[in-house]
Amino acid sequence: MEIEILNKMSLLIKNGRIITSSDDFVSDVLIQGEKILAIGKDLPNPVDRVINASGKYVIPGGIDVHTHLDMPLGNISSSDDFETGTIAAAFGGTTTIVDFPTQSRGKSLHDAFKLWQTKAQGKSVIDYGFHMIVTDVNDSILDEMDQLVADGITSFKLFTAYPGALMLDDASIFRVMQRAKKNGALIMMHAENGSVISELVKNALQQGNTNPIYHALTRPSVLEGEATYRTIALAEVAGVPCYIVHVTCAEALNAIIHARQKGLPVFGETCPHYLLLSEDDLRKPDFEGAKYVLSPPLRPRWHQEKLWQSLSDGSLSIVATDHCPFNLKGQKELGQGDFTKIPNGAPGIENRLHLTYEFGVNQKRFSLNRWVELVSTNPAKIFGMYPQKGEIAIGSDADIVIWNPDTEYTISASTHHMRVDYNMFEGFNVKGNAETVISRGEIIIQNNQFLGRPGCGKFLKRKLYSPSLIN
Ligand code: URP
Ligand code: ZN
Ligand code: ZN
Repeated sequence: MEIEILNKMSLLIKNGRIITSSDDFVSDVLIQGEKILAIGKDLPNPVDRVINASGKYVIPGGIDVHTHLDMPLGNISSSDDFETGTIAAAFGGTTTIVDFPTQSRGKSLHDAFKLWQTKAQGKSVIDYGFHMIVTDVNDSILDEMDQLVADGITSFKLFTAYPGALMLDDASIFRVMQRAKKNGALIMMHAENGSVISELVKNALQQGNTNPIYHALTRPSVLEGEATYRTIALAEVAGVPCYIVHVTCAEALNAIIHARQKGLPVFGETCPHYLLLSEDDLRKPDFEGAKYVLSPPLRPRWHQEKLWQSLSDGSLSIVATDHCPFNLKGQKELGQGDFTKIPNGAPGIENRLHLTYEFGVNQKRFSLNRWVELVSTNPAKIFGMYPQKGEIAIGSDADIVIWNPDTEYTISASTHHMRVDYNMFEGFNVKGNAETVISRGEIIIQNNQFLGRPGCGKFLKRKLYSPSLIN
């Protein structure tokens, strides 16, 4: 054992300000191979490499639990694959993602798992896990859920939206929840009332309302609130923990706050675009609004402060990106003249830490510790990766970001690494950047250079959600 450790590369990060979800102190961190071996002063030297981190923050690598890389949609796919998307994630300080294999109707969950493994293996430059999207429920699919949990896919995502494609009826949702209760998995929900939205969409098209803004106007926030309440009610009866993805509005927040006050294991996620952009962006002329077509839609601006407040007071637990990029040229353009044909989704995987740091920490909406909790530690805890990920501790994976709080950075499609021809946050000025990014002991980003290798990310077998880790 001793010899094995000595044979692995060692890396010493000196004099950094270590920020975790609970601590803040200046120290050194010694990495041996893929793991953190020691934290303290006067650690054994010599080592293979030393990085001086004085004046910088040393944080656990970001974890983005909501991405859609290489996601098929009709005849097209989201424009980042597991290589380009994870390189962009790494540039932004994210060292783990959890993506979504999607069951095709009539096919098995295992088929989707295999397909997504072929998309990710040999490509992902950071570690990745999967949540399984269930679209077609029967007894054998429920049985398969147990096997997936054993394989490390310990969360299942369901939809109350997109009828005819992804939406499940309440009975099917409840059956999946009951099975998750048995096998210990977590339920995730995209909560919007898809059936009523379909009626509103029909009305809009009949009236000739085809511009991107009608995407938002046909998906009112009250229908997100209704589906969020419904999901929580079903989960309460099934006795299963649930996680509401991409929360956008006060109505959904109220449902989550109410549930948490009752002591239910209910968690909410929001995304940078809901915190910083609004329905007004969909009104931009010349089809520019199409850049912002995603679901649930961007909301009137007043919802934003409610979301920020919920991030700071603990009502919301995670900031993820829902990264699902489609190029304006050739992809979003498919919806010229009919907003329903604009592929839903937008890029964001690279800028999550920039935006939450600038508008959360720099603008004093929450502390540095809370920032780390929202972008790394809570994702690890809720999704069965803690303390392997999301922590700076002896024995944890050496997934570490050295964050320079003084670097000024302007977000732009002309410099970003995502494979998409626009950035929703074009021109936003932020202070703070991921200067060095370490993935399981390997430096993969330094001085704006990618130093990793496609395929160096590993599939993460996640553990079950554990209530003792999180409140
Ligand atoms: O518009 C979005 N968010 N597209 C990705 C799929 C989803 O609903 O999360
Ligand atoms: Zn969704
Ligand atoms: Zn999504």
